[in-house]
Amino acid sequence: MERIGASQLLSGVSYMMLSHKDLGAHSHIRGLGLDDRLEPRESSQGMVGQAKARKAAGMILKMVQEGRIAGRAMLFAGPPSTGKTAIALGMAQTLGPDVPFTMIAASEVFSLSMSKTEALTQAFRRSIGVRIKEETEIIEGEVVEIQIDRSLTGATKTGKLTIKTTDMETIYDLGNKMIDALSKEKVTAGDVIAIDKTSGKVTKLGRSFARSRDYDAMGADTKFVQCPEGEIQKRKEVVHTVSLHEIDVINSRTQGFLALFAGDTGEIKPELRNQINSKVAEWREEGKAEIIPGVLFIDEVHMLDIECFSFLNRALENELAPLVIMASNRGVARIRGTNLHSPHGLPPDLLDRVLIVSTQPYTPEDVKKIINIRCEEEDVSLTSEGLEILSRLASETTLRYVLNLISCAQMLAQKRKAEAVDSEDVKRAYEYFHDEKRSVEWISDQTNYLVSEEGVDFAVGGQPFGKPKTDGSSEVPMDES
Ligand SMILES: Nc1ncnc2c1ncn2[C@@H]1O[C@H](COP(=O)(O)OP(=O)(O)O)[C@@H](O)[C@H]1O
Ligand SMILES: [Mg+2]
Repeated sequence: MERIGASQLLSGVSYMMLSHKDLGAHSHIRGLGLDDRLEPRESSQGMVGQAKARKAAGMILKMVQEGRIAGRAMLFAGPPSTGKTAIALGMAQTLGPDVPFTMIAASEVFSLSMSKTEALTQAFRRSIGVRIKEETEIIEGEVVEIQIDRSLTGATKTGKLTIKTTDMETIYDLGNKMIDALSKEKVTAGDVIAIDKTSGKVTKLGRSFARSRDYDAMGADTKFVQCPEGEIQKRKEVVHTVSLHEIDVINSRTQGFLALFAGDTGEIKPELRNQINSKVAEWREEGKAEIIPGVLFIDEVHMLDIECFSFLNRALENELAPLVIMASNRGVARIRGTNLHSPHGLPPDLLDRVLIVSTQPYTPEDVKKIINIRCEEEDVSLTSEGLEILSRLASETTLRYVLNLISCAQMLAQKRKAEAVDSEDVKRAYEYFHDEKRSVEWISDQTNYLVSEEGVDFAVGGQPFGKPKTDGSSEVPMDES
């Protein structure tokens, strides 16, 4: 554990928490579109309709922000393409910048190069932030002189840095590393700089006003600052937010810090996690750290199996648990790994602790608004006939399929050198690209030619197709109409 002085954690790490934001299909979603009283606006922050679910999401967020909901879980239940994922992402964007939000698809848990429970544990720990307060010592002042002596070969450098405030002046000896840092920042006499003593990081704060007449040495964007007052060495409080998972990775000897960027972290030993938990608890008691429970979103949660569900149940009891949001488009479905059927494919003991929010199919007006928002987002102009036919198609297929068609239709429009996407482009795109229903029809026409696997848990619209499944069960989908 000695390795974890918080200042050694790069502060850039916390940005990684929200990198899911650029998820293409949802890039127009910028929040939940609620007013101060948590009432959903007609159309705001890219969100349209689905008022009840948005309001419920807003209420739950409020409880998260007040720290009242860690260890709870909620479930978005509704037909495909009714905005479950979109609302979850809207929630993520409403959270503060240092509240972690993690998103996984349930099926990822099975495909990673680690056990299911390890994958879930990592997802949980990614969703818990630790805000660490630290005092560091900094050297701050105006550079009077930098003097560097190179050895004959140039391999070693030594030097002296003279730095002052309005009240004092000090000379520091410089080693190789510090000389490199100063030359990288192109520090010269007259610059006001800050040096973090623990990390050795050099920051240029600006040029001293006293030098404002040295015209030749500066560009147009030079920023002038006062020469600092008082002591040259000062203590300063800095705050970093990192997730428990990031602390795990950095301290796992076999992984190291680079694993964070490679994204390939492998399994982490339970003993290490215990050590880190007790260290964090210690920091909390000493007032050095604060726990920030974040949000873990598990999409298509019915794909988890019974082992994962019992893990979830236990993990939610844990003192360090995030808010878990799940989404499912199944009605009554088989719980994977068992022969039992239950609502949304979730076992009863888990269902029991979950707040369920249902999403409804969209009205044609809402569909049109969403199509328009997507067109704006993708810089596509659409004729009113084009909009008409897209929204009609949405009622026959799904909203997601129709939104995907937009960019294909635009390509076709560009090919015929038209400014706007018209009904003919949409019709042709519709012919080129099958939606799920037509694809299934096509497959059943081809059953003699396509290889189909027996007993595979592959259901379209909730109905098993091809041969009946070996356990004779069938999954009841949520009605789309
Ligand atoms: N209320 C909404 N406002 C704006 N866009 C939406 C809304 N609901 C869904 N969408 C968009 O429609 C598409 C399908 O929605 P999605 O959230 O993926 O549905 P689900 O997760 O329920 O299957 C996505 O591109 C999503 O961003
Ligand atoms: Mg979804």
